[in-house]
Amino acid sequence: TQPVVVKNMSFKAGQTLTITGVANPKATGFAINVGHEKDIALHMNARFDAHGDQRTVVCNSYQGGKWCEEVRDASFPFQQGKEFKLLITFNAKEFQVTLSDGKVIRFPNRLGDSKYQHLKFEGEARIQGLEVK
Ligand code: GAL
Repeated sequence: TQPVVVKNMSFKAGQTLTITGVANPKATGFAINVGHEKDIALHMNARFDAHGDQRTVVCNSYQGGKWCEEVRDASFPFQQGKEFKLLITFNAKEFQVTLSDGKVIRFPNRLGDSKYQHLKFEGEARIQGLEVK
């Protein structure tokens, strides 16, 4: 499947991006990327069974053509075939991603910008809703 891309979004520090979607029944993983055209400030990859991980959320940034240091989280509230909801917000220091179970994943805002315009969804999930407030 082709990724879903949003290129002219205005997602600013202090705002909340709400994403709802459904993981495919046999999803191995899906990812949400927030950033610029090339560099990714926040890559959040839900891995049901992918890249050697089972039921793990892996966050990373992509800068200057390469992946940086991964941050992994113990919480994994995603279920194959089920709906999920993510609330993403950020400030100069970090991103905070609130998962469906209320857990908050913190990930450093390594690019340090206060506005991001690109969003990309890839992998085995259907995005149903997208809102910046
Ligand atoms: C890689 C994977 C990428 C991305 C990255 C995060 O192994 O191929 O899609 O998830 O890890 O560090």
